[in-house]
Amino acid sequence: MRTQIAIVGAGPSGLLLSQLLHKQGIETVVLERRSQAYVEGRIRAGVLEQGTVELLEAAGVGDRMRREGLLHRGIELSFEGRRHRIDFDALTGGKSVMVYGQTEVTKDLNRARQAAGGQTLFEAEDVSLHDLEGAAPRLRFRHQGRDHELSCDFVAGCDGFHGVCRRSIPSEILKTYERVYPFAWLGILSDTPPVSEELIYARHDRGFALYSMRSPTRSRLYIQCSPDENLEDWPDERIWDELRLRLGGEGGEALQSGPAFEKSVTPMRSFVAEPMRFGRLFLAGDAAHIVPPTGAKGLNLAAADVRVLAGALAAHYAEGRDDLLDAYSETCLRRIWKAQRFSWWLTSLLHRFPEDSPFGKRVQLAELDYLTGSTAAATTLAENYVGLPFE
Ligand code: FAD
Ligand code: PHB
Repeated sequence: MRTQIAIVGAGPSGLLLSQLLHKQGIETVVLERRSQAYVEGRIRAGVLEQGTVELLEAAGVGDRMRREGLLHRGIELSFEGRRHRIDFDALTGGKSVMVYGQTEVTKDLNRARQAAGGQTLFEAEDVSLHDLEGAAPRLRFRHQGRDHELSCDFVAGCDGFHGVCRRSIPSEILKTYERVYPFAWLGILSDTPPVSEELIYARHDRGFALYSMRSPTRSRLYIQCSPDENLEDWPDERIWDELRLRLGGEGGEALQSGPAFEKSVTPMRSFVAEPMRFGRLFLAGDAAHIVPPTGAKGLNLAAADVRVLAGALAAHYAEGRDDLLDAYSETCLRRIWKAQRFSWWLTSLLHRFPEDSPFGKRVQLAELDYLTGSTAAATTLAENYVGLPFE
C-alpha cells in the first residue's frame, strides 16, 4: 500500500487533517485502533472556538454544526453566592464560541471522508513506524487478521496522548513538560432542562463545578473529585446534591435531577512534548500536548495544529516549499504554550487544592473579584476563551 500522508488516529485531529488535505487534492490513509462506533461515541469536548468553527466550515463539514450547534456569546462565573457574566461579544468585538459535541464533530468528519471515498481503516492493530528519518517512511500494522505495510511521504501522528507516534521519537530528542493536578473531574450527561443559557463555571469551597450542555434538552455536568474516585461511591442523587450545592444560587436551585449516564472520571494534566516533528513524522493534537479541560482548549488546539500542518503540506506539494513544514513545530508551540498558560491559570483559579491554605482561598476570591470588576481582566479571560488569533 502507498499513500502521500499516513495518518495515525481517527480522532478529531486525524479526521480533520485527512479532510483538509483531501480539499487540497492530497491523498491520505487513516489508521485507527478502535472501531468507528467507539470513536464516535466518546463523550469529550463540547466547546468550539470561533476559529475552529471556521476551519470546520472550510473543510466542508459545517452544515449540521451551523444548524444544531448552540452559539454562546458569554459564560457565567459563580463564586461566594455571586454570579457574574463574562460578555464575549462586548469584550472581544463580537466573537463567540459554539457548543457542539466532539461526538458530532467526528461523525460529521467520518461522513465527509466516506462520501469522498477516503480510506480510514478502523480496528488497525499494532501500528509501528519505520524509517522516519529517511525519504520513504513506512508503517506496519495488522488489519482484519492480516499484516500490512503502508509507505508514504509523511506520517501525521494524530493518535492522542497514549498513542505510538510520540513514543517513536528518540527520548534524547524529545523534551517533555508536565504538571499533574491533584484532582479530576467526574462528568455526567443527563436529559434534564437547562438551568442557564450559558455555561456556568463555579468556584466553591467543596470544589469546582461546571454546568455545560450538548443541546437544549441535554445537560453535561462536571464536579471536581479525587483522581482515584470510585464511581460506585457516586450514585446519581449524590452527584445532583453536590452539583446543587456547588453551583449555588439560581442555577443550583433550578437544577432538576434526572438519570445520569456516561459517568466518567477524567484526570487532569498539563503536558507538552517538543519538538512536534521528527524527520518525516509530525505530531498533532493530544499526541503532542494535553491541557486540563477547564479552558475548553484541547480539541481547539488539535484543530489549530492540523490547520498549520495541512497548509504546510499543501505548500510542499503545490509549490515545492518546505519552509512551512520546517517551521511547523515552532509555529504551533507558540500558540500551544499560550493555551497551556490559560488552561493552567483557569484551573488554578477555580479548583480546590488539597494543600490549600486560607491564604490560597482569599487569593482566588480576590482574583475573581478583580476579574468581575475590571474590564481589562475580563477581556483577558474572554479573548483567551474564544481563542487567540492565528499567526
Ligand atoms: P484523540 O481524540 O485522543 O484521538 C486519537 C485517536 O488515535 C483515538 O481515536 C485513538 O483510538 C487513536 N489511537 C491511539 N493509539 C493508536 C494506535 N497505536 N494506533 C492507531 N490509532 C491509535 N477539548 C476542547 O477543546 N473543549 C472541551 O470542551 C473539552 N472538554 C473535554 C472534556 C473531557 C472530559 C475530556 C476527556 C477532554 C476534553 N477536551 C476538550 C479535550 C479533547 O477531547 C481532546 O483534546 C481531543 O480529543 C484531541 O483530539 P485528538 O484527535 O488529537 O486525540
Ligand atoms: C463540555 O461541555 O464538555 C465542556 C465545556 C467546557 C469545558 C470543558 C468541557 O471547559
